[in-house]
Amino acid sequence: MCGIFGYVGKKVNIERVLIDGLKTLEYRGYDSAGIAFVTDKVEILKTTGKISALENMIDEDLLSNIGIAHTRWATHGNATTINAHPHRSGSVTIIHNGIIENYLELKEMLIKEGYSFVSETDTEIVAALLDYLKSKDIWSNLEVIKEMSSYIKGSYALGIIFDDELDTLYATRKDSPLIIGVGEEENLIASDVAAIINFTKNYFLLNNYDIVKITNNGVDIYNENLEPIRKNINTVYWNVEEAEKNGFPHFMLKEIYEEGKVLKDTINEYVESIDSFINKMPDFSKYDNIHIVACGSAMHAGLIGKHLIENYAGIKVDVEIASEYRYKKEFYNDKTLVILISQSGETADTIASLRKANEDGIDTLGIVNVVGSTIARESKNVLYIRAGVEIAVATTKAYLLQVAMLELINLKLMLERNLITGERLQELLQSLSTVPKLIDEVIAKDKNYIDIAKYIYEDKDLFYIGRGIDYAISLEGSLKLKEISYMHSEAYQAGELKHGTISLIEEGTPVIAIMTDPELSLKTISNIKEVVARGAKVILITTNELDGDYDFIDQKVVLPKVDNYLVPLLTVVPLQLIAYHVADLRKCDIDKPRNLAKSVTVE
Ligand code: AGP
Ligand code: GLU
Repeated sequence: MCGIFGYVGKKVNIERVLIDGLKTLEYRGYDSAGIAFVTDKVEILKTTGKISALENMIDEDLLSNIGIAHTRWATHGNATTINAHPHRSGSVTIIHNGIIENYLELKEMLIKEGYSFVSETDTEIVAALLDYLKSKDIWSNLEVIKEMSSYIKGSYALGIIFDDELDTLYATRKDSPLIIGVGEEENLIASDVAAIINFTKNYFLLNNYDIVKITNNGVDIYNENLEPIRKNINTVYWNVEEAEKNGFPHFMLKEIYEEGKVLKDTINEYVESIDSFINKMPDFSKYDNIHIVACGSAMHAGLIGKHLIENYAGIKVDVEIASEYRYKKEFYNDKTLVILISQSGETADTIASLRKANEDGIDTLGIVNVVGSTIARESKNVLYIRAGVEIAVATTKAYLLQVAMLELINLKLMLERNLITGERLQELLQSLSTVPKLIDEVIAKDKNYIDIAKYIYEDKDLFYIGRGIDYAISLEGSLKLKEISYMHSEAYQAGELKHGTISLIEEGTPVIAIMTDPELSLKTISNIKEVVARGAKVILITTNELDGDYDFIDQKVVLPKVDNYLVPLLTVVPLQLIAYHVADLRKCDIDKPRNLAKSVTVE
């Protein structure tokens, strides 16, 4: 969603500091941006559009060392300058990530107390509420913030500056992400670690309702009862270079090229040996059914997991979209494991599903990339993928590692049920160790993907088809294409297309057919011929084992030979690169597609 950043410390070119901090968060949401900094008063600059527009407004020579900054992904009110953050009411200036669900009720109350509002946002209501509570003149600013939380329903991460404490930056959260960076004579607030990495690698996490008070003298932390507390310091495990493009034209391409490396990092962490693998994986022996709950690409990874676990471990798996799961009647029990997959660990609907399972006493396992994120902290167990920072809004390397982690989980499930011999496990893990290099080989065929992109990028619609696990992968291919190139596409079960949607196939309609399952290839070939017979131009993604002289295919990608169990780790890479090159040809904003945000921390 939005990006929040705040600074207090030794640097005095505050406007530059705030802009640079925001730039590292732009991928989180970017329809407007603003900064507030302290001179002899609080000054605010804000504008619609990208952070570069705001950057053109700053005074590099202005001296100040305290400020807050926000890049917005609008939920209440259009992307206008008036609605951009920071918002100010009376003597209070704030930035906010989240949704105030009862903002209208609060607005009515505050209007009766004489307040008026200029924006359409829910955030401005919070600024006015804080000012209203201050106006009672019975509480300190710390107590005002605590009192505020009792009025609010919804989610928030807030940066706050009070006019009567211009040397102090306050921050608090409920359900929206917020971390506190702890540097040398400088301290920061941020939505995630990408924003602090240029200042410090040390940070701590806030629990709901914690409040921090940051001044030049350091950071004081209070719990919801305003008792002073101390927090454990976490350290960012990746380096600054990972948060930069390093010569790549886009973060997305860089992150695809990192897939081999990060897969190797994750394998090294979990599969150093059979024993270490067994010890690192939780005990799954008591479960006889699994729910995988996630959103978007993470849900697509879950579909791969379903296919593997049901077909190899013989355990029933239901894959659920989190925004639906959180409201539906659940039939789970003490033999159910709920797995939540989330790159950011902050997706609001996935968090809500996790909390529902936790409240019902159901065991939960998080598959998460961001260390210390809400889903990581609140799941009963967590398995971190080691994707490093993923800046591009469209996930690539994290999705790949989510699939890899599900493959490892499945192997543990099989081992516990004596469905795999030690010898076969060793063989598979050995084969897995070769996959990073095979991914590099697949990436190296980039000209193949560029040719395919040139062949389809001007088309209006595109269909992906596949059977079984290939259908699950086709969903991810279709989402990648849609979200970064704005080209409409649909993923369809290859066998289902003829039950209606095939009517959309006309002369020249592009179809990307995925065929990697030897048991289903003949059926898929029949489905391909059905669309070719109606004029489709077909791109086939297949394996070395299934490669053939298919004269009815227009273009194809042949994946290198690998154990069929591991093929999904290769299949998705061409789909990611085809989507990338189509978006590039269509001159799209690949890393920050319109309307999207990296982490959907609102419902
Ligand atoms: C990924 O390309 C999408 N941008 C999106 O579907 C994403 O996978 C989804 O929002 C879930 O995010 P999470 O993994 O951080 O929970
Ligand atoms: N709800 C607030 C708004 O619409 C904050 C949105 C966000 O998290 O960026 O301005």
